[in-house]
Amino acid sequence: MISLRTITISTALLGIGCGALATLAGCGSSETVAAPTRASEAAKTEGISPQTFADSVHAVMMADRTVYAKHVVTRLKKQNAPVAPSEYWEDEEHKIPLPAQMFRMGAELVAENPEAGFSYALKSKWPLNPQNKAVSPMEIEGLEFVAENPGKNFYGEEKIGDKTYYTAVYPDKAVAQACWECHNNHQNREADYPDFKEGDVMGGVIVRVPLNK
Ligand code: HEC
Repeated sequence: MISLRTITISTALLGIGCGALATLAGCGSSETVAAPTRASEAAKTEGISPQTFADSVHAVMMADRTVYAKHVVTRLKKQNAPVAPSEYWEDEEHKIPLPAQMFRMGAELVAENPEAGFSYALKSKWPLNPQNKAVSPMEIEGLEFVAENPGKNFYGEEKIGDKTYYTAVYPDKAVAQACWECHNNHQNREADYPDFKEGDVMGGVIVRVPLNK
């Protein structure tokens, strides 16, 4: 296991790019994150460590994400189905959300849910959407770590304003053909964009659990 990193950042940072932070800190409604609610309370009273809690919720997220990419998106493509994923699915006919959009919509519902008590987001060192760029120093470090150390997760504590969070970053891997096919051909690729192949780390899932300290 890696050692726990601790980073403190100012509230000013939360003010920057509210959109980018919306899914991880419930931008504009800081109480959502500030008040430790049922899930994280249970983790404390029943002796579940923040790491175990983060690992468990991440396992469910990744299972759903993999199933959607593998058994819905890739399958439709292989069958040349008349329905395809598109980032403009809301405005176009016969389109369904991208895996990343599915993930973000889930994260937004969790951020609104007072019973959840944690937040999460999908980000990358190489974002197709600039909103998915790391914001806090710990996110930057975590995304770097999971990209450099395949198979390992990153865990740390960070202070945002006067709240301390347990922050876990998990590698987000190219688990289905649709992942690398779409990213490797996307118009938003920057010059340093990698050529992804099966199993590559394409980004990271950030899970934040508020701590009572
Ligand atoms: C049909 C195209 C498409 C497919 C399939 C796809 N992605 Fe993406 N992905 C995108 C686009 C476009 C974005 C930016 C979407 C947004 O946030 O609005 C994105 C966002 C992401 C991000 C966040 C960072 C960024 O680039 O903005 C990661 C990480 C990611 N995808 C990994 C994956 C993985 C892993 C898979 C397979 C499980 C996958 N993607 C499947 C197009 C795709």
